[in-house]
Amino acid sequence: MFFNDRHEERADKQAIELDGQQIPQHIAIIMDGNGRWAKGQNLPRVAGHQRGMEVVKDITKAASDLGVKVLTLYAFSTENWKRPETEVGFLMKLPGKFFDTFVPDLIANNIRVNVIGYVDQLPAYTQKAVKNAIAQTANNTGMVLNFALNYGGRSEIVSGAQELAQQVLNGEIKPEDIDETRFSQALMTASLNKYADPDLLIRTSGEERLSNFLLWQIAYSEFVFVDEHWPDFTSEVLKRAIMIYQSRHRRFGGLAENKSDKK
Ligand code: IPE
Ligand code: IPE
Ligand code: MG
Repeated sequence: MFFNDRHEERADKQAIELDGQQIPQHIAIIMDGNGRWAKGQNLPRVAGHQRGMEVVKDITKAASDLGVKVLTLYAFSTENWKRPETEVGFLMKLPGKFFDTFVPDLIANNIRVNVIGYVDQLPAYTQKAVKNAIAQTANNTGMVLNFALNYGGRSEIVSGAQELAQQVLNGEIKPEDIDETRFSQALMTASLNKYADPDLLIRTSGEERLSNFLLWQIAYSEFVFVDEHWPDFTSEVLKRAIMIYQSRHRRFGGLAENKSDKK
């Protein structure tokens, strides 16, 4: 445990007052703990995923209301195929259930749906649900709700490298033209433009690891780990995480500015 955790625990117990000028523009969340939440309620694991889907709706609205520009939610990793077929099957039906009930709210809140991940490897009905939602919200200009679905950070980097190698082979670019900007443009987050990199990364359920999420993009993200399982995550927990974020001082390799109250 680091010293600044104590400061953060104190921040926990105070009333949550956020600085509206310092809302993280891109928040990425590793929604973890659905299975453990269900087990704690003597329910099957999939009941945790079902409840988790409802929480996604609440948190999407809360983030949009706070002025967040991009909310990226890790919904299914390239490694989650290792789970039992029944659980994977349930998870693949969730996008359909989610968008069937929630697209009108997304439109009412001017929220646009985007997806990162290997969508073409998903069952046809999952692809259809996702593509419909993207099309139905395409004209919305507010927050981007960005689902990471069949997403893996390492695969994404490999795919990006392949794309750049192909551009070299086609004579479109030279190897020395490959720089960080061009590499970012070859990744799945390229369409998020200036918001491609998360400012704040949250993981629920007390686990403190990345599990192959946004490896390139999190180079300078602030990490906040919360103990709540995803089905217990609320807008208050989100605000608490943002408050912790606002108590941090991002330096990006430079020196601290003259803010004596910041670490
Ligand atoms: C997160 O909850 C949802 C997905 C990974 C799809 P988990 O299903 O990982 O729940 P735990 O971590 O086993 O409790
Ligand atoms: C990460 O959670 C993936 C998602 C939240 C979709 P996992 O539960 O799959 O991660 P590990 O296996 O505990 O690292
Ligand atoms: Mg998990």
